[in-house]
Parts: sequence; C-alpha cells; structure tokens
Amino acid sequence: MTDKQIHELLASMSLEEKLGEMTQMAPNFFGTEDSVDLTGPMKAMNLRPEDVSCLGSTLNAFGAEKLIQMQKEHMARQPHHIPLMFMADVIHGLKTVYPIPLAMACSFDTGLMEEAAAMAARESAVTGVHLTFSPMADLVRDPRWGRVMESPGEDPLLGARMTQATVKGYQGEEMSAPDRIASCFKHFGGYGGSEAGRDYNTVDISDGTLREFYLTAYKAAVDAGAAMAMTSFNTIDRIPATGNKKMFRKILREEWGFDGVAITDFGAVHEMIAHGYAADGTEAAKYALEAGADIEMMSTHYLNEGRKLVQQGKIDISLIDEAVLRILQLKNKLGLFENPFKGADPEKEKQVHLCKEHLEIARRAAARSIVLLKNEGGLLPLDKSQKIGLAGPFANSADVLGGWAFAESAEQATLYSGLKQHGVQITAMAMAEPLRPMQQGFMDVSDQTAELERLADCDIVIAGVGEHPDDTGESASKTVLRLSHNQEKMLERLHDMGKKVIAVIFSGRPMEIRPVLPFCDAVVQAWFLGIEAGNGIADVLCGDVNPSGRLAMSIPQTVGQVPVYYNHMNTGRPLIGEPHRYVSCYLDCPNEPLFPFGYGLSYSDYRYTDLCIDKTVGAEDGTLLNVSVDVENTSDIAGRETVQLYIHDVAASVVRPVKELKDFVQIDLQPHQRRTVCFQVTRAMLSFWNNEARVFEPGDFEIMVGHSSDELLCERVTIS
Ligand code: GLC
Repeated sequence: MTDKQIHELLASMSLEEKLGEMTQMAPNFFGTEDSVDLTGPMKAMNLRPEDVSCLGSTLNAFGAEKLIQMQKEHMARQPHHIPLMFMADVIHGLKTVYPIPLAMACSFDTGLMEEAAAMAARESAVTGVHLTFSPMADLVRDPRWGRVMESPGEDPLLGARMTQATVKGYQGEEMSAPDRIASCFKHFGGYGGSEAGRDYNTVDISDGTLREFYLTAYKAAVDAGAAMAMTSFNTIDRIPATGNKKMFRKILREEWGFDGVAITDFGAVHEMIAHGYAADGTEAAKYALEAGADIEMMSTHYLNEGRKLVQQGKIDISLIDEAVLRILQLKNKLGLFENPFKGADPEKEKQVHLCKEHLEIARRAAARSIVLLKNEGGLLPLDKSQKIGLAGPFANSADVLGGWAFAESAEQATLYSGLKQHGVQITAMAMAEPLRPMQQGFMDVSDQTAELERLADCDIVIAGVGEHPDDTGESASKTVLRLSHNQEKMLERLHDMGKKVIAVIFSGRPMEIRPVLPFCDAVVQAWFLGIEAGNGIADVLCGDVNPSGRLAMSIPQTVGQVPVYYNHMNTGRPLIGEPHRYVSCYLDCPNEPLFPFGYGLSYSDYRYTDLCIDKTVGAEDGTLLNVSVDVENTSDIAGRETVQLYIHDVAASVVRPVKELKDFVQIDLQPHQRRTVCFQVTRAMLSFWNNEARVFEPGDFEIMVGHSSDELLCERVTIS
C-alpha cells in the first residue's frame, strides 16, 4: 500500500479498532485451541469476542498451516480486514537452535552472528513468523541475573557489534522478503542493571552510566534499522520504562530518530500499578500512551480504558493515531497488505527446518563460541589412544539447547554422541544422571562419587558439568553460582584418583568455578550451544577446530565479588601490587576476576610485538592515530586470533574507565605466520558522555593492543 492509502485506512478506523490494533494477546485468545476460554483469561482481561476481532498482533504461535488459518479467520472478522502481525521470541534460532547469545558474543565473530540470525529468519519466516523479539541488547555485569544468557555481555562495543549483526541477519536489505523477519531490540532500557542480579528488580544507575555503557547496544540496533523496540520491566530514574518519556520520547525518538514501533514487555503496562507509579489501569494506560508505547503486550488497559481517556480529554486522539500509524506502516513494510501470509509455506517448512546447511552453521557457531579457560600440559586436543571416560550430568544430556528454545531436543547432539562421532572410544561412564531444575526443588546433596570406581581404568575423564538450562534465562536469578555439591565432589574425587580431568561447563552464565579449578587439567566453557552442541564441543576437544572464543563476560572469583567487570573506574585509591590497607581491595579476595573479559586460550600461541602509534594531523575522517602491531603464531597449529584494541583516557572532565574496548579484528594465522594488524583511532572513539553531551577532550591516552583485556602492549600518547 502507498503511504496515502495507509493514512486513509487509519482515518476510516473506529477508536475501538485503533485500540485493538495497539493490543497484543497470546494465541489462545484467538480460539486457535479448541475453546476460547471466555470465563478464564478473556474474562479476566475483560475482553469480548468483538475486541479479539480488532487485535493487531499475537505472539509465540508457530506453524505455517496454523498461522495461515489464523490469519484467514482473523482477517475475515477484522472490520477492515487488516492482517495480524505474528511475533515470537526467536532468540537463538527456531528449530536449528544455535548457541545462546552470550556464547555467540564470545565468538567475537559478527559475520557468523549475522549468518546465524539470517538462518533463524529463514526458519521463522517459513513457519509464518513476521517479527522476532530479538536481539536482547542489555549490557550485563552480574551473573546472578539469569538473563545474562540472552545478552551480548559486559562490553558496550562488543554488544553493539553483535546487536547490529543480529538485526542485519534478521532483516536483510528488505524485511518484506519471504525469508526475512523484522527485528525488535530489547529491553529498553538498562534491564541488565537489575539490582543484586534479581530479575525484575529496581535499576538505579546514573544518567552518565546509562549513556556511556548501557545505551550503546540499543543505539546500534536503531542505527541498524531495527523495526521495533521493547520496553523493559524496570524503572529508570524511578520511573517504569514503559511510562518513561525520557527513554522513549527524548532519547529513542528525538535524539536517535527512531521511527519504528515501540511495544511493551509482557504485562508491563499493568505492572506500573504494582510499581506504585499508576494508581489504576486508566493511569497506566495514560502514562504508557504519553511515553509512546504503541503496542500493549498481554494486558488490556488500552482497550478497556483508552476510549474513556479520549472522551474525557485526558489523552489526545493524536497519540492514538501516531501509534496506529506506526503499526500499520510496519505491517506495510513487511508487505502484509499485499501478502498477509508472507513467507508461510507448509511444504517448504519441512525442507528448511533443520536442513543440512543450517545444522552446519549451528555446528560452526557452537565450536566458535567455546572458550578454552585452562589447558594444563596441553592435555587438549585429546589423545584418542588414551583410555577416556565420561562423567557428570552433562555427559550424555540432550538438554543443552539453552533457554528460549522452541525446538525439541530429539535431534540434539550430546557430548557423548559428539565424541563417538569423532571416533573417541568411551571406556566407561559414571555419575551421568542429568540435573533437575532447581524450581523442582533440586538440591544435589547426596554423594554419588562411589560410582566413579567405574572409571578406575581410565587415563582421562571428560566431565560434563554445569547448571540446568531451566536455571538460567528469565526469572532464573541465583545467589549461589557454584557447581552442585555432587559435581564438585566428583571433580575432586577424579583428581584424587589420579585422573587427567577435562571439565566441560554447560551454563547460561559465568559460574563460580574457582573451587574446582585445581582439580581440572583442562577447562572448557561450553555455555548452552544449541542443537549441535555435542558435535561443536567434540570438534574442539578433538582438535578439528582450534578454539578461538574470548570471554564476553568476566568470570568472577566468587559471587561475593559481583559485579566485577573489566571497564571499571580507577578510584582514588587503586590497588597497586599486593593488597594492603587503605586502598580499594578486599581482605579475602583479589580485585581481578578469575578470568577477565576478552580472555580465551587456543591450541596456538600468539606473540604481540612492535606496537607503533603514528599521530595523523587533520585527517578528513577524524582519524587521530594510526596504530599497528605485529602478531605472530609461534606454534605449529593454524589458528584464529581476535586482536583487541583498548584505550584509557588518563584524565577527563568525568572519570573514565581504566580501559575500554574500541576495536577488534579477527585474523587467521598459519603456523609461524606473522602479520601486521592496523587500527585507526578516531575522535569518535575517544569521545564520551560528560553528563551533558558527547565530547572529545584532548589530553593523554594509553593505547593498548593485545590478546585479552589483561594481556596488552601499551603506549601513551598526547593528543592536542
Ligand atoms: C517476556 C520477556 C521478553 C519476551 C516477552 C514475550 O516476559 O521479558 O524478553 O520477549 O515476554 O515473550
């Protein structure tokens, strides 16, 4: 449709229709199941069948045949035959589930991220989905928060680049294409700052911290053309995001020029009452409309109170019209007025889901997302001539997809099946009973280590350990990040039995592994890697893939240290050298994390030399420094190295982090190959938020390049 036709359609709609278009309900309200329960949810939501006929969208319905049928029925009932938008939480793949976003961020591979997102788009579009509530672009620093698994980690730049790649992968050049979907970034904003890592808790961060750290990735989503933004459950400046004009009117729309649709999170309009911000549903609807929330997800205050608000002059109809216009324009961008079924195709669906090409992408992503944390004596890659045993709850568990996965794990590649496929003879297996979720009261206290006698003949034991996937994700905050009692005892016992121990950690968050580190000769952080997990892990353990993952989030020494992150401020009493009184440190724990941001081992060794910094004068593109460094692979194994550039603004009008990642590049190095890597440092890269605006201030800067945030060559320069 032309924009003129869209405006004419808007003008012809009744107020009820407009308010319906601004409301999103779950599929069961559309009578897709046998009975639409009028006494249950619909009644509770004060919804009438005629309201349902005007709803604008639904969420988390899947299946080409089902969605085609739903669309036909809805358009027949809808007064102007306006098509529904089908939205869904496709967070890391639909059927071909790839690694959780936190793991993908550890690949530092934006090309791979875009490729995986494009695959997710193909599998979602063919099943009838039009838009995904992804990427989650929340910066995180607290592994007690279960949703770190959905996040791109603790760094603004890495978060921005992974977010941008994800939006591009979903939307491509034209989101109306049959194999593309629209992207909704979330949760705007600052949800990852939930106090004490407790989900849905208060977020209380300064405007400077919000702008310098938390907003960067959301802005990248807007710049990448994301079609939609989702409000977050938390408050910002003590005002719920869903009713927060500073966030949605000022920053998102006025400063950033976002002209897409804003949707609330699940029930978040209604939750403004519990927050103590709205006295009732009428006020909640008013505040959300004034803030510019176009679609109300899973509560019905727009539908039930909107008419009254307009009639009483408390809300100007223009607010309603601008919201509905944006929704109709998005449906038009998706091509739904020409083809309301978009890419839905029951026949093609069977060929696309879990196809060979997609499984290959998922397997490659799994291997690239793995972070090798320890490899004492080069125990890895595996020597298959050794007697190898398997132990632990993830030895053969198919439950390693990670949260927000809609696929069945029937096709799941487990650690055991992956090793077998690589021709690894498993001599014996022990203590392999999978974990149960904590919500089912699972407290693993019984000591089952007697079973380990089965592994008496083994030289090496691969231990699949970690946390249950249901113990991560939304509403899965934890105060204890250690492995369960049995798992810690198992690793210690295997060590005491004289076994070489390779711990493979399956988790959605950094775990507190310091207690077991001494018992393990090798440690592989395997996150939840999706449907090809076992194959990707075996590819790394057996040396087919040289691990290249780098931590996107610090691993703490202990939960008592949290939040611990690399881009912290120096304080007025920084700890230099050994801990001592009256400087910023603990009596019982180092300041540094166990493993820092950007850390990761490889089967190769890399040497950095010859850091050179040339000051350019008056370059057109704002380049202030040309930086180069030589990187050599000193080993006999080809590998991929992520060369990281950090800066430190030594003195500025607000205190600045001790270091900030400002660029990274991945290079492949053959054995003993040496390459020169160049970076440009621009004015924009050295600019920061000074509590009023983004500014650049001349002065001294430390320029650092290296393998990890704690392994860097450094030169100090003065920029005037
Ligand atoms: C949930 C989540 C959000 C998700 C939405 C729809 O509560 O906070 O990330 O997209 O509801 O399922």
